[in-house]
Amino acid sequence: MNTLSVAVVGAGYWGPNLARNFAGSPDWRLAAICDLDLARAEQLAHRFAGAEAVTDLAAVLADPSIDAVAIATPARTHHAVALAAIAAGKHVVVEKPLADSKQKAREMVAAARTAGVVLMTDHTYCYTPAVLKIRELIEAGELGDILFVDSVRINLGLVQPDVDVFWDLAPHDLSIIDFVLPGGLKPLSAAAHGADPLGAGKACIGYLTLPLPSGAVAHVHVNWLSPTKIRKMIIGGSRRTLVWDDLNPQQRLSVYDRGIDLETQALDGLERRAATVSYRLGDTWAPALSEREALDAMASEFATAIREGRHARTDGEAGLRVLAVLEAASRSLESGGDPSRLEPEKELAGDLA
Ligand SMILES: NC(=O)c1ccc[n+]([C@@H]2O[C@H](COP(=O)([O-])OP(=O)(O)OC[C@H]3O[C@@H](n4cnc5c(N)ncnc54)[C@H](O)[C@@H]3O)[C@@H](O)[C@H]2O)c1
Repeated sequence: MNTLSVAVVGAGYWGPNLARNFAGSPDWRLAAICDLDLARAEQLAHRFAGAEAVTDLAAVLADPSIDAVAIATPARTHHAVALAAIAAGKHVVVEKPLADSKQKAREMVAAARTAGVVLMTDHTYCYTPAVLKIRELIEAGELGDILFVDSVRINLGLVQPDVDVFWDLAPHDLSIIDFVLPGGLKPLSAAAHGADPLGAGKACIGYLTLPLPSGAVAHVHVNWLSPTKIRKMIIGGSRRTLVWDDLNPQQRLSVYDRGIDLETQALDGLERRAATVSYRLGDTWAPALSEREALDAMASEFATAIREGRHARTDGEAGLRVLAVLEAASRSLESGGDPSRLEPEKELAGDLA
């Protein structure tokens, strides 16, 4: 198995976490740290033998020994840095959010497709043992058909200067829902209701409703003003229901063999139908989870996608779908909560047409 070389671009708050995980991975050689601020790049590069500190992105991209670039610069710069890297034939992993607009994300997805390189979004939560297990259980049919997803992410949070609570917190829920639902998150519309009871000038409390094509529904509740912290997702299925409580390390995941079965029968041939409702009250169990750090699993997925010439599990399209839903949520919020329609094929395909 050949080792791949990566340069981390951006050595601020998050870049060091990427650098540490790439440096510790058997799949990767951390070749360079690039930051506009040389002192920052040097300070980080010194921690890893063989990593060079540079300020010039063009020099990194011109180096044929570097296979991939990991971008941890501010979101507004992702588009320019990623397009330059893709044009140089590098595989790219971009920190979330993939870009600061859906249009820019589409351009990035299209460019990577044309160049034949891997474009991955680091939706870090998706690589936590709990979320990987949820995806595995749904994929194996353990929950049956998905009927609803209810996600709550509330705490006493910092009111952000540049974004509302939807853009600050909901990307986590949306990227996770996108990751665990077979085929990804492709809602028919997004209806967002927000409240700003303190007069902060933006929504500090948000409710987002996403009807899914199957008739199921996903709902996300985000809030900066809650004195208690809740990080919970309930995924209801036709066979079982799963509850993920991220703040309960003893039992993050619980699977309930409980639910409602509805059988309809034709009473007299065609016209009249009767519904029989029965309740299942079975066992609850807690799946075992590994202890692996999410960014280590992310780095390994990036390497495997490159080696196998396939899309990463959180690919550019996943980043684009999250941005499309967030933009639809903002449109809905502006219109006072009217559902804003999403057209999956057109909006989410990454085509520029
Ligand atoms: N996955 C996660 O859980 C997670 C957590 C935190 C932040 N992030 C994401 O990581 C990214 C970076 O966030 P941060 O908090 O580390 O930002 P930051 O401001 O702390 O650091 C950004 C760094 O990038 C450098 N930089 C800016 N433009 C550059 C360019 N063109 N070329 C080279 N270097 C450049 C800056 O000098 C700075 O050192 C954001 O997209 C953020 O959303 C992800």
